[in-house]
Amino acid sequence: MAAAHPDGLINLSVGTPVDPVPQVIRQALADASDAPGYPLTAGTPALRAAISAWVARACGAGVDGLGVLPSIGSKELVAWLPTLLGIGPGDVVVVPSVSYPTYEVGVRLAGATAVRSDSLTSVGPNSRVRLVWVNSPGNPTGKVLPARHLRKVVDWARERGAVVASDECYLPLGWSAEPVSVLSPEVCGGSYDGVLAVHSLSKRSNLAGYRAGFVAGDPALVAELLAVRKHAGMIVPAPVQAAMVAALQDEQHAEEQRERYRARRETLRQAFDAAGFTIEHSEAGLYLWATRGEDCWETVDWLARRGILVAPGAFYGPAGEQHVRIALTESDERVAAVAGRLAER
Ligand SMILES: Cc1ncc(COP(=O)(O)O)c(C=O)c1O
Repeated sequence: MAAAHPDGLINLSVGTPVDPVPQVIRQALADASDAPGYPLTAGTPALRAAISAWVARACGAGVDGLGVLPSIGSKELVAWLPTLLGIGPGDVVVVPSVSYPTYEVGVRLAGATAVRSDSLTSVGPNSRVRLVWVNSPGNPTGKVLPARHLRKVVDWARERGAVVASDECYLPLGWSAEPVSVLSPEVCGGSYDGVLAVHSLSKRSNLAGYRAGFVAGDPALVAELLAVRKHAGMIVPAPVQAAMVAALQDEQHAEEQRERYRARRETLRQAFDAAGFTIEHSEAGLYLWATRGEDCWETVDWLARRGILVAPGAFYGPAGEQHVRIALTESDERVAAVAGRLAER
């Protein structure tokens, strides 16, 4: 329906980058294209050093002994982490109540049980919890979890011998709140025991098509993941490893991309505000989380009639049924047209 609009579709439904891959990264990929041998599962020394340096800078990870491991994207890591950690039937994994669907998919692939919860007190003294996913800034809500909240999650999990996996792929995109990494001393208390931060270059560096991510944290857990992956595969291709080094060492392109999203966010925020939507959370990340106080499918329909496609909140869990997720990933020209579309009768 949205695509049938006479002026064409404005697609705000998927968080897929639309701006070019920065030249410095494309050059590094091309320069590394003669790659006949198997790449290192652990990552080249240059990549491991680039990841560690970036994590120290961007996550404020101030302690020595950090484990790092590149991954093919982060969706793949999210989907397979429970399995790689040996989690299986009878085990419980906690995922945020409204969240990226792959957390639950990964739990199901492992044959374990997913519990949707944002408050661990409501999970109770369940000794079978092996893994807790947190996601700040969150998809789809754009919510930022304060350091004290993350700290409580880490303490709770450590008491029970569970792992905290913190999906931080939107960490560089803070707008009205400053996101905090699980690796910052404020949260992990100067020890990486039981914590893993999951990162992606898809959004920061427009590299969704390259599939470039990594995990950083507890060296013992990372060593276990590496040992399994050496045999299970999912090795990051050598040219992509070289591209990741270039991406991680350059902040200029990331800052430019951030400013593009900042401008689009402001335009979209004003347009949806003026059209009577209520925007909740959305302090950081790549989405506006909006509601008209009705079932999400009615809102999706209302917008589709105006040629705008958004994601229904129900995709992210039952608690999202009255919201829609609006992505900041359309061209400036399409984003500028949104206010006019919303005013159409
Ligand atoms: C919360 C969250 N985690 C992970 C990903 C996966 O990103 P990628 O596989 O491109 O690294 C996404 C993608 O949108 C996401 O929203």
